[in-house]
This record gives sequence, structure tokens and C-alpha cells, in this order.
Amino acid sequence: EKGGHEYFMLKEIEEQPDALANTLRGHFESGRIVLDEQRIADQDLRDVDKVFVVACGSAYHSGLVAKYAIEHWCRLPVEVELASEFRYRDPVLDRDTLVVAVSQSGETADTLEAVRHARTQKARVLAVCNTNGAQIPRESDAVLYTHAGPEIGVASTKAFLAQIAANYLVGLALAQARGTKYPDEVAREFSELEAMPAAVHKVLSTVEQVRDLGRRMADSKAVLFLGRHVGFPVALEGALKLKELAYMHAEGFAAGELKHGPIALIEEGLPVVVVMPSPKGRAVLHAKLVSNISEIQARGARTIVIAEEGDDTVRPFADELVEVPAVPTLLQPLVSTVPLQVLAAEIARTRGYDVDKPRNLAKSVTVE
Ligand code: F6R
Repeated sequence: EKGGHEYFMLKEIEEQPDALANTLRGHFESGRIVLDEQRIADQDLRDVDKVFVVACGSAYHSGLVAKYAIEHWCRLPVEVELASEFRYRDPVLDRDTLVVAVSQSGETADTLEAVRHARTQKARVLAVCNTNGAQIPRESDAVLYTHAGPEIGVASTKAFLAQIAANYLVGLALAQARGTKYPDEVAREFSELEAMPAAVHKVLSTVEQVRDLGRRMADSKAVLFLGRHVGFPVALEGALKLKELAYMHAEGFAAGELKHGPIALIEEGLPVVVVMPSPKGRAVLHAKLVSNISEIQARGARTIVIAEEGDDTVRPFADELVEVPAVPTLLQPLVSTVPLQVLAAEIARTRGYDVDKPRNLAKSVTVE
């Protein structure tokens, strides 16, 4: 049932191209984005003046990724907030606020309470959920299902990628309703999304390389993750996977913050995973990251670099290099997250831990 794999998580990592394709299927018809069970009228989508994404854990990271796309496409402010924080403060919400509640299980207690709070404030609530008929979609105004299929591994993998894709569909639907993108631009963005299952399939060819790297990193004390722009939430996700599975101290940072503190952590041999932007797509950010890597390498860090294939400028600074296919910048998290999932799983396995059932964790957190 694990499809010949040692652990489910690896099978689910390999199912990610399908998870993406199934999540996108049917959402572009007659030249328009359609959000299937949309009980929010087009007029209401047009009137949205602010978006909140509320979620926990990996689902929260999917929201952080989506913020970059939705703000860019829709010219709407997007706040991404941990559901457990959102619900206990007094967020400014009204009927023109769209609250996107992202949850694989659809049963997470904090996210459910955030939905309930948003509805008492008259905000429109759209659930992005992987589980048919779960409580969060039942209590929301509308639902967009991710079709990742059941996720058995406790650590989220294919559901996370599907959440990013679904959040992007929400962004494109908003851009379409608000007219901040022309129909042909929306169509082009959608076709770029549709090319992602193939790109993710290509990344899977790095699995054995990354597993080998994981085996060699298994006795590290701690691992840091750095990224910028959409690579920042990817760094957070990579660190979360490693904490959950390998019980290792791991932290993700925005690379621009290095000098504001984290660089003090760098010591001889400390592994630092760096998520590079595209050298062509984001030349300025790329140059900044190259300079960050050279700084940490000079201080003795062991650099593990996730970079676009053919990115030669970064090579001299990479002690280990994992190449991912070139894709549009906003879609990069869909490829660059994959090696980080494999890395965490393999480090955990090497340390003798149960990758599918990490200690102290439950697949769905139905208590606060
Ligand atoms: C991380 C992980 C958790 C969940 C979080 C939210 O690998 O699995 O952080 O992402 O508990 O769960 P859902 O999406 O079911 O609300």
C-alpha cells in the first residue's frame, strides 16, 4: 500500500504532480476561472477590498506563498495569519473582507474557530480544504477543494502543494472579478499553473540525490533555512518538516534578516539550506542571495543550495547543489519545496524515526 516505498510520505511526495493536476482540473472553462462550489457571487468577489488567509502549520505557509501572488495579481492587501492568533485578537473585518481558511483536514480547531469569528463579523469565508464535507467547509460560505487525495503521512506534503495551487486559483478568480488582469493574462497564468505537474515530476528525479544528502546530514545538531520573496515561506516550510520528522532544531529565515541577528548562529559546519530565486526572473534578489551565501560560507557554514538548473553563478558557493527546473517566479515554491520534504524525511529515517508517525503529533488537531 505504500507503493513499494519505505514510508508513505515518500509515496505522497511522488504523488504531487497528480495532486496538482487534480486540484487544477475543471477550474478553467470557456476562458474563465471557475471556483466550483462558489456560493460567493461574482459581485461580492468584485467588492472584496481585503483578504485574510487563516490557517495553521503548513497550510499557513501555503497562505504566505499566496500573498505574493494575490497582492501582485489583484492589487488587494492580503494578511496571512495563524488561526490561533487571528481568533483571539480583534481583526478588522466586514462584508467586503474575504477570509480564506486553508485546511487539509477541514477539522483543525483553531481554523474552525477563526471561520466562526469571521462569519460573526459578516466577512465572506472561503474554505480551501482537502476533505470532502469536513466541518470547516460546512461552516464556510464557499469551498474550493484541493484534490490531493487522502494524506496518510502526518507531515503534509501533497496537500501543501495542492493548497498553494488552490490559493492561486482564488487569486486568479479575484483578479478576473476585479478586472486587475485581462482575460488573456488570467488564461496565461492558468496555463503556467497547468505546466507545474510536469515541472514537479521533473524535480522528483532529484529524490535519490537528496536522500543521499539527507543520510550525510543526519548527525547535524541544527539546520537553518534561508529564502527571499516566495522562497521565504519555502524556508519556513522546510524547517517545519525537519522539526516534525527529524526532531532537529531547524529555523527558517528571510535571508535579508541575516545581518539582523541570525548570522550570529553560523558556525563551522552548520548546514544552511538556501532557496535561490531564478537568476533571470529575479536577478536583483538572486544577487542579494549570492552575497548572503558567500557571507555564511565565509563563516564556515555548509551550504546546501536549491537553485534553478543552469544557475552557474551560485555554484562556487554551494557545497551541495540541488537543481530544480526553471519556472515562473511565483510558481517556484511548487518545485523548491519538494527537495526539502525529501531531505527531512530521509534525515528522520536515517535517525531511526517513524517518518509517517512522528512523535507527539496528530494528523488533525481538533483541540486547541
Ligand atoms: C505540517 C502539518 C501541520 C498541518 C496543520 C494544519 O506538516 O501537517 O502543520 O499543516 O496542523 O492542518 P490542516 O491543514 O488539516 O488544518
